[in-house]
Amino acid sequence: MKQYEELVCTAIKMREYSYAPYSHFTVGAALLSKKGKIFSGCNIENASYSPTICAERVAFFKAISEGEREFKAIAIVGGKENEKPNDYCAPCGVCRQVMNEFCDGDFQILLVKEKDQYSIYRLKDLMPMGFGLKNLEKK
Ligand code: THU
Repeated sequence: MKQYEELVCTAIKMREYSYAPYSHFTVGAALLSKKGKIFSGCNIENASYSPTICAERVAFFKAISEGEREFKAIAIVGGKENEKPNDYCAPCGVCRQVMNEFCDGDFQILLVKEKDQYSIYRLKDLMPMGFGLKNLEKK
């Protein structure tokens, strides 16, 4: 799909900025807002391990902190550093939870291998029965 070309290329490019000296697994993400703006992210690791953050959450938090709240799609690509990915990189559970906070079930998740090779999933398929704001609002 042509509409996602820039999104996919941005995610692929973002792997170059990844800081992953521990896992040597580099991930790039590109998040498309409903207004048409792209927010990018890469994974950033830490010697203390737990401060490590995934590429997807970097992209989300950049967007949220700049006032964007509505999103259409995210492209994700990951693999061994300095190599082309040999598999699709699905978002971890914590990143799915963050997606669930800000996106509806039709939010599109593009798992990318190459520029012209990606599969599209919907959040409702990757995160069924998610816990969210609606649960806390129930009486
Ligand atoms: N990682 C991501 O950035 N996104 C994912 O979807 C999966 C995992 C990162 C976290 C860590 O820096 C490295 O990949 C290995 O887990």
